[in-house]
Amino acid sequence: MSRTQVAIIGAGPSGLLLSQLLDSQGIDNIVLERQSREHVIGRIRAGVLEQGTVDLLLEAGVGGRMQHEGLIHDGFSIGFEDRAFRIDLRALTGKAVTVYGQTEITKDLIDARAAAGNPPAFEVGDISLHDFELDRPIVRYFHGGRSHEIACDFIAGCDGYHGISRKSVPSAALRTFERTYPFGWLGILADVPPASHELVYSNHARGFALCSMRSPRRSRYYVQCASDEKLEAWPDERFWDELVSRLPADIARTVVAGPSIEKSIAPLRSFVVEPMQFGKLFLVGDAAHIVPPTGAKGLNLAVSDVRALYRALSAHYRTGRSEGLHRYSEQCLRRVWKAVRFSWWFTSVMHKFSDEPIAHRLQLAELDYLAGSHAALASLAENYVGLPEPRLCPTLMAADHHPALTRRAAKLTPTRRVRRPDRNADRLSHPPIRWETG
Ligand code: APR
Ligand code: PHB
Repeated sequence: MSRTQVAIIGAGPSGLLLSQLLDSQGIDNIVLERQSREHVIGRIRAGVLEQGTVDLLLEAGVGGRMQHEGLIHDGFSIGFEDRAFRIDLRALTGKAVTVYGQTEITKDLIDARAAAGNPPAFEVGDISLHDFELDRPIVRYFHGGRSHEIACDFIAGCDGYHGISRKSVPSAALRTFERTYPFGWLGILADVPPASHELVYSNHARGFALCSMRSPRRSRYYVQCASDEKLEAWPDERFWDELVSRLPADIARTVVAGPSIEKSIAPLRSFVVEPMQFGKLFLVGDAAHIVPPTGAKGLNLAVSDVRALYRALSAHYRTGRSEGLHRYSEQCLRRVWKAVRFSWWFTSVMHKFSDEPIAHRLQLAELDYLAGSHAALASLAENYVGLPEPRLCPTLMAADHHPALTRRAAKLTPTRRVRRPDRNADRLSHPPIRWETG
């Protein structure tokens, strides 16, 4: 049997980034991936990065190409009723987002893991997780024609919504929350210049549409479709016609059609599992939560989980202190639920849910209100660029986003209440475990 400190299941962005960061701290880890390398880097996913995501990729030493090729977007537009208004992210929040495809991030991370001499093991079969409720978890798997067994201190379940990590936890120990939307997104990638230099989200009586991009020469477009839609029913011409019919005329005129280089249908779902930790197994990214893509939050949430787990594991191995590990689930879930709420709201206001005329009128009224209200625009913008890290100090909870309030609350906090770091950690121990290093 071999040994590592952290066994990471899944080589999506979560598993790869965690591996890269842990390595930078000298924490031994292995990444086990079910699919082939080609399959993993061939997946086309979203590509809007919050500043916190950019910062962590830079900290991990994988931000070089992103800094060079990523597009900084200071705003985006929302179209409805044949007009569009702009959300000036920079003016409303002082922040921007970076457009850089998840596919490119995955490639950068795989290259970095290989350069560091610790590439993921691809095409690993029959992974099973054992004894993670005890002190010494074990991971069994099949690779390179034989069975393997690894003993580890911790398991990071980074294996996405369909992975085995979450399914390995006794179902009575988890609570799941799920909503499946009655439609999907049909997306295409094409080597044509984008319709606009910023993203355009469009509400239309025929359904939602989105104009996005990967570079000044590569566009990514989506139209809302039925959840049981078949790709064969959507030759390129039909896609372009449908897209153009759902955009305000001024934007529709600027769409350049061309042959698709990728076309796929994705379902829309909100999903959260609580807690995100069971014994020494930590669920990270899509393994623990899914959001509909409308708010561009999926990858950013996964990176936030990675940041929390990386910091907690680093502190654990460096100082022996495990508060961060005990608080992992609570800390992540506060951010997750806010992103689930925002993604649900943005999905609800932009998509066609039924033929009921009042439903569309209500959406138009909400968008008209949004376009004319600084407060509503600021709320949308601060969610879109990414909310700040949640604080865990209960007396400051209400002041998360307001420095002035934070200062006031800090003044009001009696000095004798200042240090009680482990109250929450005790409530969270689930099930009781000892935190020892091997
Ligand atoms: N064993 C090993 N690997 C597995 C298993 C398994 N049983 N099941 C799934 N995997 C792998 C998948 O093949 C995939 O490469 O785990 C990886 C999970 O990657 P993602 O699904 O991309 O999830 P994550 O890394 O959390 O990425 C964050 O946010 O919303 C999204 O699009 C976004 O995919 C992105 C995600
Ligand atoms: C994308 O470019 O793929 C994209 C952009 C914004 C979203 C979702 C997807 O909200």
